[in-house]
Amino acid sequence: MAMWKDSLKIDVPLIDSEHKELCDRIDQLFAACSQGKGKEEIVKTLEFLEGYTIKHFSDEEKLQRASTYPKCKEHKELHEFFKKQIADLKKDISENGASIAVISKTNYFLMNWLLNHIQKVDKELAGYLK
Ligand SMILES: [Fe+2]
Repeated sequence: MAMWKDSLKIDVPLIDSEHKELCDRIDQLFAACSQGKGKEEIVKTLEFLEGYTIKHFSDEEKLQRASTYPKCKEHKELHEFFKKQIADLKKDISENGASIAVISKTNYFLMNWLLNHIQKVDKELAGYLK
């Protein structure tokens, strides 16, 4: 089942396309896991996310500053939390290997954080922008 669905749109085309890219990459990881290739894919996914979220979060933060969004600071803190989790998971895997436990913890975290963040936090921002 694909993570991305139209109901996740916040009606800011740049941000929607970046969210779709993030969802697609997480789908790819899930697909790899179901084919027993999770170990190979998980580090690639985390490295991709590390790079891509720098761009994506900064695009969102620019939008917030440009519109003097009152929750800029709180929103940025949530982004920083996600980046830190990604870095910690990557470190854990490079030091201890990609066990089934750490792979499922990562999958669960990525999917939940992203869906929850888009549906609550980014939608709230979108509501303000309108
Ligand atoms: Fe956000």
